[in-house]
Amino acid sequence: MDCCVIGTGYVGLVTGACLADLGNNVVCVDRDGGKTEALSAGRVPIFEAGLEELVTRNLKSGNLSFTTDIKQAVVKSRLIFITVDTPSDEIGRADMTRVEEVAWSIAGSINDYKVIINKSTVPIGSTKMVQKIIEESMGEYREYDVVSNPEFLREGTAVSDFLKPSRIVIGSDSQKAITLLTELYRSLDAPLLVTDPVSAEMIKYASNAFLATKVTYINAIANLCEAVGADVREVALGMGYDERIGFEFLKPGPGFGGSCFPKDCRALLSISRDYGYNFDLLEGVLEVNREQHERVVAKVERIAGGLTGKKICVLGLAFKANTDDVRESPAVEVTRMLLERGAEVTAYDPRAMESARSELVEVAFAGSAYDAVRGAEVLLLLTEWDEFKWLDYGRVRELMGEPLIVDARNCLDPVVLRKLGFTYEGVGR
Ligand code: UDX
Repeated sequence: MDCCVIGTGYVGLVTGACLADLGNNVVCVDRDGGKTEALSAGRVPIFEAGLEELVTRNLKSGNLSFTTDIKQAVVKSRLIFITVDTPSDEIGRADMTRVEEVAWSIAGSINDYKVIINKSTVPIGSTKMVQKIIEESMGEYREYDVVSNPEFLREGTAVSDFLKPSRIVIGSDSQKAITLLTELYRSLDAPLLVTDPVSAEMIKYASNAFLATKVTYINAIANLCEAVGADVREVALGMGYDERIGFEFLKPGPGFGGSCFPKDCRALLSISRDYGYNFDLLEGVLEVNREQHERVVAKVERIAGGLTGKKICVLGLAFKANTDDVRESPAVEVTRMLLERGAEVTAYDPRAMESARSELVEVAFAGSAYDAVRGAEVLLLLTEWDEFKWLDYGRVRELMGEPLIVDARNCLDPVVLRKLGFTYEGVGR
């Protein structure tokens, strides 16, 4: 099918490349000419497993192309995906400016029947809003449908999440649009849920807010485990065997972050307020998540006997492993708090240092984990990269000024580390 994908961020690029790989004819649109030029040459600006390979292969086969010309892309496509970003505004609402701009551009270019698909995470009612914009521009000409088709891609595994989705959600009242999208996704082996647009929009927010709540719940339990002397990893294991609970998303840490959970929780709260519902539970989730950052800082402060002038080595800046993304990263937030309280921070991350540099100007960035620990009084592990699990901790011990480790992701073995002479603190154990 002829598809166009508007916006080449994480979601757009993965959607475009995967749809092309499934045999569709895809043109990806971005207003940033530098970006489309680089992408046309096979240079992918983000680190996402398998993505560059997919882009290169489909550029070669001719299934995938990049352009800044939205009009032409819309004219030659049947399916038009909106995948532009919807950042939080100052009061936590999803900012719809880009979606609106794109909707107007699409409206001005419709020549025959089109399905316009909202893939960006958009507030409840946005499918209708996009429809209204197009209606206003097109008048009586009704040869189009607007559909909500949320994505559930995780950074780091976005390509495999797209090709092996847990489910496909299509929110539409139009049989014609539903048939086309069902056909598009036919080769993917996944449950297909066809529903109304508002429910589809809610599914995305409800899923992300639920997962954020689950992470927050285990963080709270971890905090309590510390108080009572239990081991949260054993507790999570014991909980996970219950199929109603499951093992996923029960790893405690420095709090959730990334481009979706914090933003979507804030947006859902804002939607709740607009509709007069007090979503205190979700308010609490965000509050506990903020406190979780603070608890990591307090732990470092306690173990180091103060923060002023202390040399802290931070390992990991990305919001989770296997990505270079530092958006709302708890690691960046904790580092910022350490700096504010007078610590001297040297940091290392295998992928995210470039993106973190502008946010953490006072940090010294090291070329390797070993360089970062040299002379440090506390090693603080904030992102669960595999590389940190396999360091030679005997060597780390020799390089450090003091043998103190705070493992905010529970990825190291306290028994081994204590044998090496370290004082070790994890989360909830
Ligand atoms: C999330 C959703 O999983 C995805 O479906 C949606 O489309 C976008 O948002 P992503 O932001 O890539 O994906 O990250 P995810 O793997 O879900 O982790 C989110 C945050 O929770 C990270 O900061 C991660 O470190 C944290 N987390 C996750 C935990 O602290 N513990 C866990 O057990 C799981």
